[in-house]
Amino acid sequence: MIYETSLYKELNRYWEEKIVSFHMPGHKMGRLIPDYLKEDLLRYDLTELPGLDNLHFPEGIILDSQKRTSNCVGAKESFFLVNGSTAGILASLHATMRRGDKIIAGRDSHRAFANALNLCGAVPVYIKPYFVDEYGIYGTLKTSHIERAIEENPDSKALFLTRPTYFGVCCDIKKIRELTSERGMLLIVDEAHGAHLPYSNNLPESAIYYGADIVIQSAHKTLPAPNQTGYLHVNSDKIDIENLKITLSMFQTTSPSYILLMLLDFAGEFMDKKGRKLLEDLIIINNGFRNTFKDDTKIKVLDDYCLMEGNIDPTRLVINVSKTGMTGFEFGRILHNDYKIAVEMSDIQNIVCITTVSDDVNHVKYLENCILDISRTCEESINSSNSKSIVIEELKVPDMKISPKDAFERVCEKVLLKKADGRIAKHTITPYPPGIPAICPGELFNGEVIENLINLYNHGAKIDGIDGNLMVDVVCGEEDTYE
Ligand SMILES: Cc1ncc(COP(=O)(O)O)c(C=O)c1O
Repeated sequence: MIYETSLYKELNRYWEEKIVSFHMPGHKMGRLIPDYLKEDLLRYDLTELPGLDNLHFPEGIILDSQKRTSNCVGAKESFFLVNGSTAGILASLHATMRRGDKIIAGRDSHRAFANALNLCGAVPVYIKPYFVDEYGIYGTLKTSHIERAIEENPDSKALFLTRPTYFGVCCDIKKIRELTSERGMLLIVDEAHGAHLPYSNNLPESAIYYGADIVIQSAHKTLPAPNQTGYLHVNSDKIDIENLKITLSMFQTTSPSYILLMLLDFAGEFMDKKGRKLLEDLIIINNGFRNTFKDDTKIKVLDDYCLMEGNIDPTRLVINVSKTGMTGFEFGRILHNDYKIAVEMSDIQNIVCITTVSDDVNHVKYLENCILDISRTCEESINSSNSKSIVIEELKVPDMKISPKDAFERVCEKVLLKKADGRIAKHTITPYPPGIPAICPGELFNGEVIENLINLYNHGAKIDGIDGNLMVDVVCGEEDTYE
């Protein structure tokens, strides 16, 4: 008898639709995972039994596998993550930063970074990435901006970078590593989108290669590995490994899934033995994809020449559809409904597709043909999509009045956004587009930020952190602190 539970039913319905996936997880519904591993999965759902080691105190099979990983990617030491890069980011900051310590960070940092600040009490100095106007997305941090931030904040203990970005843009890690080394600062790199980088010389190099102190990777995003799996790599002598192990233990479950661990182990082995060749093939396939649209008047694909600085990871396809007169949302919907293609993300101007070693030439060609097919039916639009009506203004990062942790600990109240001038933000407010925070916890609302948010809202931007009545959370007086 089959129990038609709702998740089972819906997941099966999805499976039966045979959707071609250009999203995470990178195993693409298990395409390259051999049947012997997929069948009867629950027999591997075990625990810390004799011979099966312990993720929190590894000295047997898990330690061996972690060592194999670090040898393979060139790290000093590697740790398996079963709570995603999120756990790695929380642990990295908690292990290295104390309350009041300064950390320079990209404004495009994932929310795990903001949560880490709430926990450890470090104070961020944010740098904004530059904006790629033509695509309506942020590029990456400029080296000169990092250099300036370091000069202006010589007491900073660490630099936290996201590389590659969600859009696959990689900053100049070599130069940046030199800058942090000169100042004796830690370099912590969120390489959640770059677990595949160590496996090819034709991709931007992993930060591991340049001796970043800590590099955190989500295996599940770009390797044939299941959701939640990842790595934390240490690559310097500046990290107290014993302390890091204890901290990592705080953010990982005490009942790690052996299914996840086994499949993570498989993914590493697979990448080493077969993935390298498949990645080279994928790069060639994707170059072909980019080439197809090189002179296209309606479809553009993000490439190195579109960037002010940095370079792209060729496995990430950021496809701008604004000249078709459609939004990325509309284009993504047509791909899904009419062509059975699921993209990773759509925004106003773009669709983002993740390709991994689990994709082959047929997949990518299919995507290419479907995009061509849709765009043929559209008149070239000079006005582009409605995105043009949303003007992304380059605003300064608002002044920080109290640390994110202090804001987190203070009681809040709701006020109308238009009346928030001079108040301290309790939560992050992020408009999409452009997708990076307009204001972060502890920062002061000012007229410019308020006007910009209202303007974006009126033009249809989706804004996280503001409710439907345009109310925002601001912190109350100093005496109002959660116990
Ligand atoms: C840049 C970045 N860092 C960290 C994370 C968190 O990764 P995970 O889902 O593996 O916890 C994400 C997730 O989307 C991300 O995009």
